[in-house]
Amino acid sequence: MPSALHTKICDVLGIRYPIIQTGMGWVATPRLVAAASNAGAMGFLAAATIRPEDVGEEIQKVKALTDRHFGVNFLMDAPGADLITETIIRHGVKAAGYNRAPDAELIARLRNAGVVCVPTCGAVKHAQKAEKLGADIIIVQGGEGGGHTGVVPTSLLASESARAVGVPVVAAGGFKDGRGLVAALAYGAQGIAMGTRFLLTAESPVPAATIDRYLRAVVNDVLVTSEVDGMPQRVVMNELVRELETSHALTRFIRALRSGLAYRKLSGASVADLLRSALSMRKHERLTRTQILMAANAPILAKTAMSDGDPVHGYLPSGSVAGVIDDLPTCAELIERIMNEAEQTLASLSN
Ligand SMILES: Cc1cc2nc3c(=O)[nH]c(=O)nc-3n(C[C@H](O)[C@H](O)[C@H](O)COP(=O)(O)O)c2cc1C
Repeated sequence: MPSALHTKICDVLGIRYPIIQTGMGWVATPRLVAAASNAGAMGFLAAATIRPEDVGEEIQKVKALTDRHFGVNFLMDAPGADLITETIIRHGVKAAGYNRAPDAELIARLRNAGVVCVPTCGAVKHAQKAEKLGADIIIVQGGEGGGHTGVVPTSLLASESARAVGVPVVAAGGFKDGRGLVAALAYGAQGIAMGTRFLLTAESPVPAATIDRYLRAVVNDVLVTSEVDGMPQRVVMNELVRELETSHALTRFIRALRSGLAYRKLSGASVADLLRSALSMRKHERLTRTQILMAANAPILAKTAMSDGDPVHGYLPSGSVAGVIDDLPTCAELIERIMNEAEQTLASLSN
């Protein structure tokens, strides 16, 4: 492998290839995380949709499937963030991922325990703040990326962030192949992080009916909406999102209330927990009261599509890249393909 493809993040994370599988709620489950890590990339378990007291058990499941390094991604302002931090440390997990509302005290605890801190940011100024708070590696997600997303295109965000911070930057948003990896390195990034591409692999836990929607989507079907939870999210447009975008505020209010209650039952969060999380979101995202209520929608509506397999009544977070993906390779096949193509691309450029 050309030395250009062995970057700093390979050494910091202890992985073979400069590729990260990002935390995706209901999707980045132990089987997918282990498959990504076994293939030479770095898998991240999505803890945002696991009850905090169950995170240890899920970490054990990953460990049973791989002896390679992996990470855990979680929300630092959500109920149980403290417990998840302790669990990551206790289980000797290699890296922690986080984004919204980074917490200086939790980051310090992780760093003191030797956990590699890998936040995701959507703007250069957030990357600079993340560095000050103690990030070891920063994933910058451009507007093409799936789920909650910003407006800066990946090409601009990656190059500007790589210039603006001293720690390695990893580019996310729109990557799927070896040419993309080489482009990211040219922007000054030290690797790529992919969500949607890993969602569309043989080891993805997402049921077939939902996977089919992703495979059939074209780029124009993958749009940004704020109607699911009040914050801009890139999704595959479907019946639910179209309805949310056109429905009356009262209908949305009732739906949000119903989803919030269902989520409470599922997560074991108390009303006080939900309120605390909502208030924190409001502080950090400047949301209105209606939007806060809408936020109760997100986890349960994502579960409906991503875990229960109903792509009509749930929503499908997705990067634009879903519009150009039409296969489901294994993680091993995918990583091998990316690395071979990156190698060939480098060779043909130098010719
Ligand atoms: C289905 C799905 C679920 C996601 N869930 C989360 C999450 O729980 N936490 C998080 O930090 N990011 C989440 N994201 C964002 C991804 O971690 C990642 O940053 C993004 O997918 C990168 O863009 P790409 O899809 O173009 O590769 C999610 C993305 C997708 C597609």
